Amino acid sequence: MMKRLFALGSMTALLGACTPSTTLLSPDGRNSVAFDAATMTYAVLRDGDTLIRPSALGIAAQERDFSGFRFGVVHHTSGDREWSQPWGENKTHRDRYNEMTVELHNSDDRTELCLRFRAYDDGVAFRYELNAPDSLTVTDELTEFRFADEETAISWSIPGNFETYELQYREQPVAGVRDANTPFTFRSGKGAYGSVHEAALYDYPEMVLRRDAEGVLKADLAPLPNGVKAYIPGRFTTPWRTVQLGDKPVDLINSSLILNLNEPSKIADTSWIKPQKYVGVWWGMHLGTQVWTMGPRHGATTENALRHIDFAAANNIQGVLFEGWNQGWENWGGSQHFDYVEPYADFDLERIAAYAREKGVELWMHAETGGNIPEFEEQMERAFARYAELGVHTLKTGYAGGFKGGYLHHSQYGVQHYQRVVETAARYGIMLDVHEPIKETGIRRTWPNMMTREGARGMEWNAWSEGNSAEYLSTLPFVRLLAGPMDYTPGIFDIDYSTAKADKGRIEWNGPNAHCCIKTTLARQIANWVIIYSPLQMAADFIENYEGHPAFRFFRDFDADCDRSVALQGEIGDYIVLARRAGDRWFLGAGTNGEARTLAQPLSFLEDGVTYTATIYADAPDSARNPENYRIERRTVTSADTLEIAMAARGGQAVTFIPENE
Ligand code: NOJ
Ligand code: CA
Repeated sequence: MMKRLFALGSMTALLGACTPSTTLLSPDGRNSVAFDAATMTYAVLRDGDTLIRPSALGIAAQERDFSGFRFGVVHHTSGDREWSQPWGENKTHRDRYNEMTVELHNSDDRTELCLRFRAYDDGVAFRYELNAPDSLTVTDELTEFRFADEETAISWSIPGNFETYELQYREQPVAGVRDANTPFTFRSGKGAYGSVHEAALYDYPEMVLRRDAEGVLKADLAPLPNGVKAYIPGRFTTPWRTVQLGDKPVDLINSSLILNLNEPSKIADTSWIKPQKYVGVWWGMHLGTQVWTMGPRHGATTENALRHIDFAAANNIQGVLFEGWNQGWENWGGSQHFDYVEPYADFDLERIAAYAREKGVELWMHAETGGNIPEFEEQMERAFARYAELGVHTLKTGYAGGFKGGYLHHSQYGVQHYQRVVETAARYGIMLDVHEPIKETGIRRTWPNMMTREGARGMEWNAWSEGNSAEYLSTLPFVRLLAGPMDYTPGIFDIDYSTAKADKGRIEWNGPNAHCCIKTTLARQIANWVIIYSPLQMAADFIENYEGHPAFRFFRDFDADCDRSVALQGEIGDYIVLARRAGDRWFLGAGTNGEARTLAQPLSFLEDGVTYTATIYADAPDSARNPENYRIERRTVTSADTLEIAMAARGGQAVTFIPENE
């Protein structure tokens, strides 16, 4: 029988006599969480306006009847410290909060559960800390999110799905949401912006929001095949439930909340962990002009590999990725049996690795599991040891296929697997780029080798579906990207790739993306290198499309090792302007949806007193019709100037600011 650890209603009688209501304020006094012990609910307010009405808290477990719980001690504390990380959108963060812990006692007066609340200037969070005598079988999480003004509050989200995040966004009133994954971004009826997500997801299933039988949006955890949500030890800390808050949409992007709620690095020496730009044998497989398996159209051949290494070395690109280098791709979608060590006969791994080392280029490995987790885990140590021996520091993994045994990608089983890979990779000095991942919840702070991941519709969708619209791209920064870096694999220059397909021989093409094109202008493709943050940033097109292309200069000048980022202006689904600093260079990226738009952007983020050469990669006057057209303009600017950003429909603009004396 399912027993409620504590829940709305069940505690009311117990706490009858004492009904303490406890409020926690953020340091600036604007955000607050109101905890009510009588109803065991929390509410979230900003500037006194209720954003989340009193909503239940709790976890349901099988083993234990917690009905004897009593409301115990409340502690208040606060924290304020600066910390830094080896890489990130921002290398330093301020972690300033007020905290409240509420202890709940069992019949022996022992604390078996503690609720920890934090209030920051950029949001609020809470989690459950259990201290039960025995392990628990979690059957449900009772946390609710009862939004105020559900009819007038607007939300942006993908559907709640435990297998994939590669889904389209919906903009809809909160009242219309049946289920949603997180980050779940919203604008309250009064105009405040927020986003519900989670931080520090370990050993537990992911949370989506789903309406229950009473029509209330509540936490729904990805189940195991037997319906149980999680098996946890008696002493256990759940992930944080987070609500980022701000006045403007860009405030959500500038928030450090998710990272602040994660633990410091567990990797002592992080000197081997380095952001990179990379190219690879990849796009051709998605267009169908190349294949992963051996044969006449095989992409990962020795000759192709050496050519890519030469290109990287000549173009200030640190890494090269080859997909389809290892044996087993014939089984993808079938038995999902891969060998993670043995290369195909036409891929001379030793020679390629030696050549990459000689040229000072990082050779990446790729491991597609197809969802065959037992086999991958079985080979993992041996494979990682081999990669390390070859001088490889970066691995792209993939989970394109259902998990064996009926496990869901986002279940506790999945979360534990993804984490085992992170920790094993760390022991071998390997950085990770995970496709079909578990959602990012800030664990990159604790495991800085967990560099980037997919977890949304990336570039590949432009090759074989209706494609990613400019509106989708203008929504991404305010929803998925709030969670952390994404390996979108941007930067396709051959926007109308129909010729490439014809030339390179894919004749079986009849997919829904009938006009064979990327749904943005070329300038926007460049801007995406800045907008879509990834410490491992790919130039995803065929290298021959970059050879001699004047606009590729941007990627050569670009530095993936960012120090600081500022989201400058934007409206969700409409447009975005972001700037990032790496060393003394700044990079700006702007993008619009289906509407042409001109924005004025003050350059006050630049260092005062420094004169910069701004190289502007902009849409041409006819880019809406001819998206491969662009213009490059050079100008001298200072922090006192204002940049006029003129963008075509589906367009964008990218700018490098390089100090004049550099
Ligand atoms: C899907 C990934 O997103 C893509 O990048 C990769 O090429 C294929 N799976 C094959 O692993
Ligand atoms: Ca994918």
